[in-house]
Amino acid sequence: MSESVIAIACDHGGYELKELLKTILLNKGLQLLDLGTDSAESVDYPEFGRAMGNVIESGKASRGILICGTGIGISIAANRNPTVRAAVCHSGLSARLSRQHNDANVLALGARLIGVETALDCVEQFLTTEFEGGRHQRRVDQLGR
Ligand code: RB5
Repeated sequence: MSESVIAIACDHGGYELKELLKTILLNKGLQLLDLGTDSAESVDYPEFGRAMGNVIESGKASRGILICGTGIGISIAANRNPTVRAAVCHSGLSARLSRQHNDANVLALGARLIGVETALDCVEQFLTTEFEGGRHQRRVDQLGR
């Protein structure tokens, strides 16, 4: 398990925000695994959500960040992998709660719906908040692996 590796992936709708987040996270010294896409050319989000599922399942990354226009399509794709708990978040609070209560291992952002400051707040909360366990562990266990 690569605890410190964060995978990041997007479709064309999230490309610009992905590149910005990469610069910021690399400057913080974090290790990133970029799964694409690599330009603003139109692509299909299921491929990138699936790629995220594969790296989370394999342990090549312990957390992931997904970005598409809304965060919805790419999170649905990733959540088809039973090892993924991807949460679409629109605020730092939702990102914090996705960690505290749901042990989310993937954050999904909608680049066309939220601004950069909100996206950064979501990422900060997602990466720094611990899972609370307790009654939440029981519920997460019921989701399956
Ligand atoms: C692409 O145009 C857009 O549909 C996609 O980025 C995403 O918002 C889908 O859920």
